[in-house]
Amino acid sequence: MRIGILTGGGDCPALNAVIRAAVKTSVGFGWEVLGIEEGFDGLVHCKTRPLTNASVSGILHLGGTILGTTNAANPFCYPVPAEGGKTAERDISDVVVANFRKLGLDALIVIGGDGTLSIAEKFYEKGIPLVGVPKTIDNDINGTAVTFGFDTAVNTARDALDKLHTTAESHRRVIVVEVMGRHSGWIAVHSGIAGGADIILIPEIPYDRAKVVQTIMARERLGKHFSIVVVAEGAFEQGGQLTHAEAKQAGREQRLGGVGERVAAAITELTGKETRVVVLGHLQRGGPPTTFDRVLGTRLGAAAARLIRKAAFGRMVALIPPDVESVPIREAIGRRKVVPVDSDIIESAREIGISFGN
Ligand code: F6P
Repeated sequence: MRIGILTGGGDCPALNAVIRAAVKTSVGFGWEVLGIEEGFDGLVHCKTRPLTNASVSGILHLGGTILGTTNAANPFCYPVPAEGGKTAERDISDVVVANFRKLGLDALIVIGGDGTLSIAEKFYEKGIPLVGVPKTIDNDINGTAVTFGFDTAVNTARDALDKLHTTAESHRRVIVVEVMGRHSGWIAVHSGIAGGADIILIPEIPYDRAKVVQTIMARERLGKHFSIVVVAEGAFEQGGQLTHAEAKQAGREQRLGGVGERVAAAITELTGKETRVVVLGHLQRGGPPTTFDRVLGTRLGAAAARLIRKAAFGRMVALIPPDVESVPIREAIGRRKVVPVDSDIIESAREIGISFGN
C-alpha cells in the first residue's frame, strides 16, 4: 500500500502535527508514504518525496507545512498564460488523475480548508480514493466542532490585544485591530472576548458606524479614554461591501484587507479621537502550535490513516466531541460554519458590555 499526503490552501499552525501523525500511523500499518509538495500542484507536476518516520521527526512544534502549500493551483481552473500577458483558467484535472496512477498511489490524504476539500471532493468523484482533514485558522468548516490552527491563531491575536491595551490607555487612543476571518468572525469573537475588546466587528453582524461611535463615546463619559476595536477582515458596514486588498486574480480567491483602516477613518472623523490600526495578518498563521492544536492535529492525522485502512473514502475526519469521527466531505464543503448570532457566546459578550456595532 502506498499513500500520498498533501497540504493545500493557506498554511496553518499544526499542519506538521497532522503530517507527522499520519505518516507515523501509516508506517505503523506497514505502508509507504509519499509527500506531495505544494498542494495539488505537486500532482500536476509530480513533485513528491518519500516520507518516513525520520523525515517527520522534530516537526511537531513547527508552524507551516514541511510539504509546502499553495492557494493558487486549483487543477479544475488552473492558471495558464494567455494572450497579451494575461492569465486564463483551464481544467487540467485529468493530468492529476493520470499522475496519481503513474505514482503508484493507492490513496490520498488531503489536508485543507473549504477550497482544497472542494477540489478533493471533485477528485473523489473522478475516482481518486481519498480522505480529508479539515484545516483553517478561520474555524469556518462545517462538520467539525473546531479546526486545528484556530486555537493558535486566537492566542496570537489575544496576545497582541494584551499588548495593545496598555499603549491605547497610555495615549488615550482608539486602536483598531484587524484579524483574519474571511467569512466568519470566530477569531475576532474569541480573541476579542479573551483580550478584553470593547467592540468586535464580524461578517455575521454588519456594523453601523454610529453604534461603534456611540460605544466609544459612552466609554469616554465613564472616564475610559481609550477603546480597543477588533475587526474581522470580512466585516462590512450595513448596506456596504467587503474590503478587498487587490483585484481578483485567476485561479484564486480575491484577497481581503483594509476594513480596519476604513473603520478607523470613520472613528477619527466622527469622534475626533486619535486612532491607530494594527493589521495582524499572517502573524496569525505562524508560530508554534498550542498544546490544543498539537493534540487535535495528531488525533486527526492518525484518524485519517485509519479511515484509509477502512477504505472509508470521500470522508473527512472531524472532531465531534469527545471523539474524532468522520463525515462525508460533500457535507462539510460549500457552506461555511459562521458564528451563530444568537449563540450564548455572543449573548454573554453583549451582557458584559461588548458591542458588535449594531
Ligand atoms: O483562510 C485562511 C486565511 O488566513 C483567511 O483568513 C485569509 O483571508 C486568507 O487565508 C489569506 O490568504 P493568503 O495566504 O492568500 O494571504
